[in-house]
Amino acid sequence: MNVKALYGPVGDDLKRVDALIAHNLTSTRLPKLLEINTYLLGAPGKRLRPVLCLLAYSCLAPNKPIPQRVIQIAAALEMLHMASLIHDDVIDHAEVRHNQPTVHTKWGQETAIPLGVYLYSLSLKEIANAANTQVLRRISHTVKILCEGEMNQVFERGNSNLDLKRYLLILKKKTAILFATACYSGALLSGASKQQAFALKHAGHCLGMLFQISDDILDVVGTDQTLGKKVGQDFEMGEITLPFLCLLEELPLNEKQEFQALIESRNKEVFSRLLDRLKASTALEKSAQLGRAYIQRAKDHLSTLESSPSKDHFLAVVDMFEARFRV
Ligand code: IPE
Ligand code: IPE
Ligand code: MG
Ligand code: MG
Repeated sequence: MNVKALYGPVGDDLKRVDALIAHNLTSTRLPKLLEINTYLLGAPGKRLRPVLCLLAYSCLAPNKPIPQRVIQIAAALEMLHMASLIHDDVIDHAEVRHNQPTVHTKWGQETAIPLGVYLYSLSLKEIANAANTQVLRRISHTVKILCEGEMNQVFERGNSNLDLKRYLLILKKKTAILFATACYSGALLSGASKQQAFALKHAGHCLGMLFQISDDILDVVGTDQTLGKKVGQDFEMGEITLPFLCLLEELPLNEKQEFQALIESRNKEVFSRLLDRLKASTALEKSAQLGRAYIQRAKDHLSTLESSPSKDHFLAVVDMFEARFRV
C-alpha cells in the first residue's frame, strides 16, 4: 500500500498527529520506557485510522483548517490501535511486526502488557483534551467491543465449525468498529448532521471489513516482507479465517472432516498442506469476492455526501484498499 498516495490532502495534518503521538511517547523520565517508545516510533504503521478521522472531518468541513481537537482524537485513535497491536501480538504469539521484533519478543510480556495499558492511558488523556463527550462515549464503547472481538477470536480457536456469520462478527468487533469510529469521530467533531455522521460511520465500517478480509487473505498468500509480519500466523494459532472457511465449504464431506481434524490438531505442517489445497480451489477468489462486496457499499454511503476534494480522495482510498486484493 502506497501510504504517501493514501494521505493525499491530509498529509500535512497527519504530520501534526505524528508529532502529538511522538510527544506523548517521549514524555517520560524512565530511560528504558523511552527506549521502547522510541523503538515503536521508529517503525510506524500506516496510520490508517487517523487518516480516516482527518478525511471524515475535511469531507464535512471542506474549507476549514483542521482544528487541534481533531488532531487529538486522531492521535488518540492511533495510540489505542498501537496498544491493541502490542496486546494482539502477545495473544497471537507473533514475533514480528513492522519488520522488527515485537515488544514482547524483545522485552517480554511483563513489559508488553503494561506498555499496552500505558498507551491506552495516553490515548485517554488526548480524548479528555479534545473534550467532546459524544466522541468519548463512542470511543469507550469501541474499546469494549474491540476487546470482545479479540477475546471471541481466542474462544473460537481450534473450532473448525466456525461459520461465516460468526467470523464476520469477529471482524466487525476486532477491526471494523475502530475504522467506523475513526470516521464517525471526525464527522462528529465537524458538527455534521446525524445523517452525514452515520454515512461516514458506515463507510468506515465497510472499509474496516474490507481491510481485515484482505489482511486474512494476505495472511495466507502474502509475503512476510511486504506485510512486515509472519504469514500463516493466524492459522498456526488455530484461527479459521475466510479462505479456510470457503475451502471447507467446497470440500467433499470426507475430505472436509479430515481437514477439520487437522485444523483442530493445530499442527504447523498442516498449513502448507492446506495451502496447496487452497490454491487449487476457488476459496481465495470467493474470499476476495466477499471482501469486494464492501467496496460498493462503502462508496454508496460516501455518495450521499456533498462533493469535495476530500470526498474524492476518500473514494480513491476505497480503491486503494481494493488493490490489496490484487497482491
Ligand atoms: C493491523 O492493522 C491489524 C489489522 C486490523 C489487520 P494495520 O495494518 O492498519 O496496522 P499498521 O498499519 O501496522 O498500524
Ligand atoms: C488484529 O487482528 C486486530 C486487532 C489488533 C484488534 P490480527 O491478529 O488478525 O492482525 P495482525 O495480522 O496481527 O496484524
Ligand atoms: Mg495478530
Ligand atoms: Mg489477532
